[in-house]
Amino acid sequence: MNRDAVNIEELRRRARRRLPRLLFDYIDGGAGDESGLKRNTASFAGYRLSPRYLLDIGARTTATSLWERRFAAPFGIAPVGLAGLFYRDGELLFAQAARDAGIPYVMSGASIASIEEVTAIDSQSTWYQLYPARDRGLTLDIVRRAADAGVAVLVITVDLPVPAKRERDIRNGFDYDLRLSPSLALDALKHPRWTLDHLCRGGLPSFGTWARYAGTGASAREVARFFLDQGYPTLTWVDMEKLRRDWPGRLIIKGLLHADDARMAAAIGADGVIVSNHGGRQLACLPTALEALPEIRAAVGDRMRVMVDGGIRCGSDVAIALGLGADFVFIGRAALYGLAAAGYEGVLRSVAILKEELDLTMGQIGVTSVPGLRSALVS
Ligand code: FNR
Repeated sequence: MNRDAVNIEELRRRARRRLPRLLFDYIDGGAGDESGLKRNTASFAGYRLSPRYLLDIGARTTATSLWERRFAAPFGIAPVGLAGLFYRDGELLFAQAARDAGIPYVMSGASIASIEEVTAIDSQSTWYQLYPARDRGLTLDIVRRAADAGVAVLVITVDLPVPAKRERDIRNGFDYDLRLSPSLALDALKHPRWTLDHLCRGGLPSFGTWARYAGTGASAREVARFFLDQGYPTLTWVDMEKLRRDWPGRLIIKGLLHADDARMAAAIGADGVIVSNHGGRQLACLPTALEALPEIRAAVGDRMRVMVDGGIRCGSDVAIALGLGADFVFIGRAALYGLAAAGYEGVLRSVAILKEELDLTMGQIGVTSVPGLRSALVS
């Protein structure tokens, strides 16, 4: 990057310049009138952190432990589909940057690179996000591949019972089958940096993990169709119980907003939940993660790790989420803007911005450790 981006918004603007509009809108947009997306980022402004002075803050750290691992920061990279479409080898770059920054990366079930390719970078900091398929044999095969690849944490996303209505995508003609439509071709001509990157890779990519299930020789388009057809509207807690039995490692359920659902997750033996409204991408009128978090924390106590995502754009947002009772947080777009703007360097920059801002926030309010943030919130 010519000059280091100063904040996440600057990475967002650089991503917008580099990407075809259709792809930028897919990242940046949300469901319906996007009011839920806006509330996610605005929700942090309703809280204040209370500063305490004249405390020795010289030896503070943003490092924190989660289960068996110690991470350099209390946040990780949330699963985002199609990363390899926004930047060539996007998932591999995410995995490299997460490893080098000492934080976890949850590779999406809708990734361009396969489980095996991404975990070859680092299986320790790579977690796998599963979209359970209609075909249970296929789901079990993916779970087995994740275990064989050394993945320690499986994240099951449950907040897509039906496809969302995203108005920008409809207007732009965005489609998961990654067709080089006339509108994308025109858009691509205006964004040569992205286009060259993709021409070098040999055209539009496919869903790596899924390719083998769509039949030998299936085109990228056929693999995408197959993936979409495997969407599973009849997924229930019974499936979750079975998956709990099938998966030997840590299990997280992502996309819950109701205390009773969190209790169910605890009851089936999940190790954690990610309280999330999918970054405002599923339905505009859902609660924000911050709104749902206190009740969920109260419902499950310390039986499970309670994590959140949605709307985090600066280090003090991380501090506020932890102050409200989260054990760990995830960043979706903040990291993806970095990737789309400048690949590996962009992701590292995004993580560094948030980590430095979190450290600054802790120093400013007199907190020296991540657990100390629990008592830092005023309202
Ligand atoms: C997502 N998200 C997501 N979640 C998931 O479980 N599997 C996925 O494949 C995707 N794909 C995806 C693509 C894009 C472009 C975005 C922006 C988001 C949701 C993601 O994991 C996370 O919940 C939100 O991104 C969090 O909100 P912020 O940080 O983006 O505001």
